[in-house]
Amino acid sequence: MSVLACLRTAAVFGVDACPVHVEVDVSFGFPHFTMVGLPDASVRESRDRVRSAIRNSGFEFPAHRITVNLAPADVRKAGASFDLPIALGILAAQGIVERRHIADLVVLGELSLDGSIHATRGVLPIAAAAKRDGIAGMLLPTLNASEAAIVSGLDVFPVASLVEAVRALNEPSSLAATTIVPRPARSPSVADLADVRGQLLARRALEIASAGGHNLLLVGPPGAGKTMMARRVPGILPPLTLDEALEATAVHSVAGLLTPGTGLLADRPFRAPHHTISDAALVGGGSQPRPGEVSLAHHGLLFLDEMLEFSRHVLEVLRQPLEEGRVTIARAARTAVFPARFMLVGAMNPCPCGFLGDTLRECRCTPQQIARYGGRLSGPLRDRLDLTVDVPALPPSALTMAGGEPSSSVRARVIAAREVQRARHSTDHIRTNAELTPALMARHCRLDARGARLLDAAIIKMALSARAYDRVRKVARTIADLAGADEIAADHLAEALQFRMVDR
Ligand SMILES: Nc1ncnc2c1ncn2[C@@H]1O[C@H](COP(=O)(O)OP(=O)(O)OP(=O)(O)O)[C@@H](O)[C@H]1O
Ligand SMILES: [Mg+2]
Ligand SMILES: [Zn+2]
Repeated sequence: MSVLACLRTAAVFGVDACPVHVEVDVSFGFPHFTMVGLPDASVRESRDRVRSAIRNSGFEFPAHRITVNLAPADVRKAGASFDLPIALGILAAQGIVERRHIADLVVLGELSLDGSIHATRGVLPIAAAAKRDGIAGMLLPTLNASEAAIVSGLDVFPVASLVEAVRALNEPSSLAATTIVPRPARSPSVADLADVRGQLLARRALEIASAGGHNLLLVGPPGAGKTMMARRVPGILPPLTLDEALEATAVHSVAGLLTPGTGLLADRPFRAPHHTISDAALVGGGSQPRPGEVSLAHHGLLFLDEMLEFSRHVLEVLRQPLEEGRVTIARAARTAVFPARFMLVGAMNPCPCGFLGDTLRECRCTPQQIARYGGRLSGPLRDRLDLTVDVPALPPSALTMAGGEPSSSVRARVIAAREVQRARHSTDHIRTNAELTPALMARHCRLDARGARLLDAAIIKMALSARAYDRVRKVARTIADLAGADEIAADHLAEALQFRMVDR
């Protein structure tokens, strides 16, 4: 006797899912449980979990020869989400589970020894791939149900234990898909820019950066309000579009960071990693690649507070994602790609003591100390910080000043400027000026004669690199968009150059 059961499941690599087939063969012979197609350590662990979960759920574990094959062999399968399809396959081969509906569903879930089912990573990309492949539905952990429900037109069967999974397959009436309406995943509320007194130049820089998706560096003494302002940027960014929300949520899904019960991310991500972060945690890594902070910040904001406290190496690995909008992690078997299009906001003091250029307190650093401090930010990284703005200490008189403009009205201008960009770039496959390519810049960032002369003079005077030159024009394009101007005028360019002054 030999009975074969086949089930569908899936594996994720990067933010992509690929189908995996689980074949279970149970035949007479000396009791033996072999698994092929999984890395060694996972095989051992999965086998033990599946055996215990079956027994502890009140089913019989067959005293026969069991062979499980996960195909295709060249897809790297890690993690524990294959437990449930393997267990159901073994029960199906014994006739305990009805085999009729099994092939219609994608099944995934990690089993614990007592037969309960844990949440698993990557359900959103798996659900999207299942829909694309014409699969009818998914049998998955209850805790992941709302994530799968984001994909419309896919039946979702949430189960919390192996017993429930068996019942769902054996009693077709109980297979009525649950209607799940996920709550939007809201971020903690963001404080308002109205709290910020003075700092008009920095406020203007926040608005320009947000309007065009440009990177921004805030430089100033302790207590000037750098952290305060950076934390308020999410409040002036436009809402996520549906496509953006899907992409950002998929990254969080793969990282296992979605809150059960919630669906699409409702707000732009705001990530503020501590300066002790490793390069793998920042850009992603691991043998089974996981997204890093730059990808968790996809379509949102990455805030590096005390930017010079980050190790130089960690800052350097930011260069690739900043340039390409994605992270590529090469592994022997495959290459994982994580999206990483984020707006970078950095904050730093001008010198080790913090008071360089302060009108109230005296800087006690030596010129060598100051040079070494600034040198931690390499030229190539500095080039990618499109706007740099001085944030001076507020004079004591400012503490009685009224607060500034509220976030809502700043945001309205940002949204209007983004709308101009969206309309202009509707066929260019980009959304913001920050993403302009050289070819697109030739079309959309033309300068008049005065502007060209101004920029030529600035290149010589400020020793701008070719990259900085392009970035100044992109910022000028955004300033023109905020002003509702079709063409970049000399004064737009002059303002963009003013935010590069700290380069000198
Ligand atoms: N422009 C401002 N308007 C209102 N309050 C301010 C302003 N600047 C600073 N403050 C107050 O000072 C506090 C400290 O500001 P914040 O932490 O943002 O300074 P910082 O520039 O990040 O300093 P550090 O370099 O030490 O990190 C704020 O929480 C706020 O209460
Ligand atoms: Mg701070
Ligand atoms: Zn100093």
